[in-house]
Order: sequence, then C-alpha cells, then structure tokens
Amino acid sequence: MKSLISQVARYALENPSSIREIMNVVADFRKHPEKYPRRLIYFGGGWPQDSPPEPLRRALIEVMEDKEDFMLAARYPPTRGDPDYLEALVVYEREIFGREVEESELLSGLGSTDLAAGLFFSILDPGDEIIITNPCYLNYTRQIEIIGRLGVNIKRWQTIKNGKFIPDLDELQSLITDKTKLILLVTPGNPDGQVFDERVLDGVVDIASERGILVAIDVAYRAFHYEGEVPSYLSRPRRENEVWIVTLSKELRVPGWRMGYLVADPSLLRAIETIQQAMTLCPAHPQQLAFVRMLSKDGVIEELQDFLLEKTPKKYQKVASLVCDELSKTPNIQYLRPSGGFYVFFDIRGIMASSKKFVSQLLDEWQVALAPGIDFGMEGWVRLSFAPVVEDQELLKEGMERIRRFILSKT
Ligand SMILES: Cc1ncc(COP(=O)(O)O)c(C=O)c1O
Repeated sequence: MKSLISQVARYALENPSSIREIMNVVADFRKHPEKYPRRLIYFGGGWPQDSPPEPLRRALIEVMEDKEDFMLAARYPPTRGDPDYLEALVVYEREIFGREVEESELLSGLGSTDLAAGLFFSILDPGDEIIITNPCYLNYTRQIEIIGRLGVNIKRWQTIKNGKFIPDLDELQSLITDKTKLILLVTPGNPDGQVFDERVLDGVVDIASERGILVAIDVAYRAFHYEGEVPSYLSRPRRENEVWIVTLSKELRVPGWRMGYLVADPSLLRAIETIQQAMTLCPAHPQQLAFVRMLSKDGVIEELQDFLLEKTPKKYQKVASLVCDELSKTPNIQYLRPSGGFYVFFDIRGIMASSKKFVSQLLDEWQVALAPGIDFGMEGWVRLSFAPVVEDQELLKEGMERIRRFILSKT
C-alpha cells in the first residue's frame, strides 16, 4: 500500500493536524474514561462549549417538522447555496455586522475550510507564492501544501516579535514578488488573539492592490472582539481585491454544521463555485433552511444582535481575563494578552524548547490538552483554547492549576 501513497499524502501523513489528532484523544476519553488517571481537560481546539442561539434551535425543529421543508432539506441545494439562504445572509451581514453585500458577492460552503480550499485551488499554480502571517492558523499551511501539491512557496510575515504583535508593512512589502498571488490574514488571530488595526489592515490592502494581489481576511472570530471599538473594516464595503472568509462555526457555535461563506468578487466566486462543483457538489441543506427560517421571525434580529454583539464578547472577554490572571501566577512563561478570539498564546521557552514535547508531556502527566506553537509557525510557544470550557470556570481553574504544577515540576 505504501508504494501507492502520493507525495502529497506522504506530506499529510507526516504532518497531521495536531488539533484534529487531539480530538481523537478526546473521543477516546469520552468512550473509555476509566483508562485515564483523571478527567481530561481539553484546551486544545476552537470548539465553543456554549449553546447556539435558541432561535436557531427552534428554527431547525420547525424545518424538521414541516413536511415540505423536510423534503426540500433532503435535496441538493445549488453549489452556491440555496437562493433563500444567500438572501438571508445579505440581511445577516447588514443587520448584525453593518456590512452591505450583494448576493452575487456571496458563495456558501461546507464551513470556511471548504471555501478556503476552493480559493486556493482557484488561484494557485505551481511556483506561485502566498504570504501568511507568522504565527498563522495551522490548517492554512497544510491546505496550501496539499492543494499546491507542495509546489507553492509559502512566505511568512513575522507579526509577533519579542513577544509583541508588531505587523510591519515594510517587512510585508519586502516579501512580495511578481509571483505573489495572495496575502492571508486572520483577525482576531488564531493562535495569538491579536487584532489588526484599521490603518495596518487598510495598508495591507493598499499594498496588495498596487501589486495586483488578493488579500483574504479570515474573520472567524469577528464576534469576539474584546477591547474598545470593533474595527470599521468589518462593516465597510468590500474593497475590490478583498476576499472575506466567514464562518458561522464560532459566532453561532455550530462547528458541526459546517456553515461558512465567502464575500468576494463575483468572477472569482464563479471560479471557486465551479471547482466546488467537482469537490463537494454543494453545502449541506437542512441548516441553510433553518437559518432562513430563523431570520424570518419577528424580533430575531434584536435577539441575534444581543447574542453576537453584547453577550458573546462580554462572556469571552471575562474568561480570557481569567486565563491571563491564572497565567500571571505561573512562573517562567510570558503570554500575549488577547484582544479577541478565544485563545491565549504563551511562550514556554523558559521551561523547554520543544512545544510538541511540552504538549505531549502535559497530556501524559496531567491530562490537559494544549496545541503546540510549532504547528502555527512558532516553536517555543503553546496555544490554550478556553472555548471548550467557557461555561465551566471550575474546570478551567483546575486545568490552569494542573498546568502550573506541571511547569513547577519542570523548573
Ligand atoms: C481562523 C480559523 N479559520 C477557519 C476555521 C475553521 O472554520 P470552519 O469550521 O468554518 O471550517 C478555524 C477553526 O478553528 C479558524 O480558527
């Protein structure tokens, strides 16, 4: 069998996603808790513990109970998404996030992961270059390597220096060549929780625009801004060379429903759509109909505004602060205070050099799961996700205590 494995599959085998791999441990713990000396505390993935908004649950029940909708939900929707769903997304963007978009600028997919893959397939040829930040959400590197069949040059724009978020536009300029096709940003960031300010983000788009380059901006955590005003780029009209990568996984707490969409130039979306026709056929249908039903209800916009713009950032900011307070009591580490998202990224070089070793020893000895920084491009750092325990502060504190005891045992 080994001789049949392609070069790119060999790469994937050698570089599995550490977060997906830890999910296997979580699943095993659920099935066989007796094998573990104590309860597993999962700070590994971006997996919110709290419930999706109640109107969404009610709408899904209605879809299932309505025979006509139930039948419709069982059919293939168009590759771009059900037309009613696209119409509902226009309303959602406008009423919740203040952004005016046209239906022709929208393409829905099986989560944003599917759409990012479609984007990479649509623009990258062997020999092309792409610029990502360092650190960057780990799945992007893997996707680009796999889709580019290891032939795309991934350049990294170092945005964290000496433990601070300092994205320098001159440095970005120096990475661009005639082969650069795309600059990819995530804000608020994963794994670092840092937010691009308006001047820098617009500076990136200006530079890219002059050079005929696309900028993809992943706003998976746009409902999780903690400090001050939410940046205005989330609500201003899309600039020509921008592709906004949006997921409902985090903001609506439905990562298992696989709902995401792109906001981009219609001709680019058409290219991605035709790729998706071959790759996935179409996104799943029942949840699209539930979303449409939810938005048709009186008063739901106000409910969603309250859920997404008030309750969500408040709740997550509180837990982020708690994690930072706990980390402040832990010796020999430095952490980056997050301005958004649901991760705290911290420097463990005062304890050990290898983030993989740190993560695996912590899991073996104390049954606490973190994600290693090396997979995000930064060795010597680890990422803590508090989303899986956001409802359970006792468990969070216990996990932090175990981390502290682990660190003390190593120093
Ligand atoms: C920055 C970022 N983008 C995308 C995703 C995946 O989104 P989706 O569930 O829509 O595929 C994640 C998941 O953790 C993420 O952190």
